[in-house]
Amino acid sequence: MLCLGIESTAHSFGIGIVDEKCNVLANVTDMYKPPEGWGIHPTEAAKHHDEVRQDAIAAALEEAGKSMDDIGLVAFSQGPGLAPCLHKGLNTAKELSDSGSIPMIGVNHCIAHIEIGRKTTSLKDPITLYTSGANTQVLGFVSGRYRCFGETMDIGIGNALDKFGRGVGMGFPAGPRIEQIAKKGKYVELPYVVKGMDLSFSGIVTAALNKLKREKLEDVCFSLQETTFAMLTEVTERALAHTCKDEVLLTGGVAANKKLQDMLGVMCKERGAGFAAVERSLSSDNGAMIAWLGMLMHKAGNSTHDEVLPRQRTDEVDVNWI
Ligand code: ATP
Ligand code: FE2
Repeated sequence: MLCLGIESTAHSFGIGIVDEKCNVLANVTDMYKPPEGWGIHPTEAAKHHDEVRQDAIAAALEEAGKSMDDIGLVAFSQGPGLAPCLHKGLNTAKELSDSGSIPMIGVNHCIAHIEIGRKTTSLKDPITLYTSGANTQVLGFVSGRYRCFGETMDIGIGNALDKFGRGVGMGFPAGPRIEQIAKKGKYVELPYVVKGMDLSFSGIVTAALNKLKREKLEDVCFSLQETTFAMLTEVTERALAHTCKDEVLLTGGVAANKKLQDMLGVMCKERGAGFAAVERSLSSDNGAMIAWLGMLMHKAGNSTHDEVLPRQRTDEVDVNWI
């Protein structure tokens, strides 16, 4: 059986096709890019998704060498995410499901990030550090659900990097650009904000922008990464210690960052824990991860309502497929 997955939680509209062994037959993503200096406007992103969705479906089917007749299940991102964008994904799933009499299933976007990571790395029961634009969470499987051990109290780490980038006139997304510039930098002090197991980034961005009055851009970029990634590493390490787990999975768009990978890698090595970062095409928002979680949930006998859940929390979902 093949599953076609639809990702539409925020700026990316993705269509992925996977088989029962999680071979990725196609993974097509079309990203809405806001005008220079602007953040994502939900209805503009949704308009983008509407415009590209038919082409994305056609491109994915072509990449896989399949037609809709070969698809046995349609999965869509049910939440969390921006409501207008989620509705585009739901409507697309409904159309495909109705026209081909194919079952459909809604999946949690954050859990999809974890499951594609568990499947494509050697890690079995990791603490997951999920670092993307809108999300920053430390997650782990305990007593039948993915529990959230720590998370951002304001903006996600990716949005924090992008906000800093906007302030200095970098294009979107700023994360990769900051990573390059930081290579030449040295440390200057920035606030370090961990409260219990939770993190806060927005004050650090303001402090970093203020620092630019006196310090060089490369030094501020270096320190922004150093400080925020140390905060992420600290909370992840404490989650490992609390749960007695011995693996860390890094995922989300910011997982592409080598500095973050290195810092987590060193921490894990010192504790004798395994570490892996999800491969880039599967770590940022994509349809294949939605398809794979849909496959797992469907096979475990789950069904869902045709609705979007913009505020759905990771630990609301009963995990009966593990
Ligand atoms: P979600 O809906 O899960 O919050 P998202 O819509 O923000 O995800 P992703 O593709 O998962 O999308 O992540 C995008 C983020 O990743 C952006 O904020 C971008 O700046 C950041 N990013 C991408 N590459 C790097 C990098 N090399 N270093 C740091 N950040 C990066
Ligand atoms: Fe995501």
